[in-house]
Amino acid sequence: MASVIPRLKCFALLPAIVLFAALPAHGLFKAKAGSKAAERAGAVLFRDKGCAHCHGVGGIGTQKAPSLVDLRKNKLWTPARITDQILTGGQKMPPFSDSVTDEEAAQLVAYLRAKHRPVPPPALPTHQGQT
Ligand code: HEC
Repeated sequence: MASVIPRLKCFALLPAIVLFAALPAHGLFKAKAGSKAAERAGAVLFRDKGCAHCHGVGGIGTQKAPSLVDLRKNKLWTPARITDQILTGGQKMPPFSDSVTDEEAAQLVAYLRAKHRPVPPPALPTHQGQT
């Protein structure tokens, strides 16, 4: 008889597991491109992958590279074209396909197209002095 109890518990858990598996499909836990989480991840990548080195903090532009502040409003810069620019580079911009994954590129695009660009949290102590 005792062995039945754990089995019952197992059955009780099943609906919970099914529910959890189904939730992301409904978009409740959306953490992919276009979400706030993706925008925040992109903000950190923009700083840590060296984009800010040329494009300036927050993408305000420097002598090395143009401002990316109004990219969101520029209809020519579709998400696909921005992704392409990041991965294959431009005339003076190097390609980042070796150091940026497809998912990271999507997060960078989410950041660059964000209505209110998030400010990345302070870099970890080990990163200090490297930028
Ligand atoms: C070595 C300097 C440099 C770095 C690093 C760099 N860029 Fe660029 N980027 C440029 C230059 C210069 C341009 C202008 C077009 C060209 O020459 O490719 C540009 C253009 C762009 C554009 C198109 C906007 C426009 O108006 O032309 C986007 C989007 C962009 N960069 C995003 C990024 C992202 C995201 C990163 C980091 C993964 C990055 N860049 C890193 C130099 C750089």
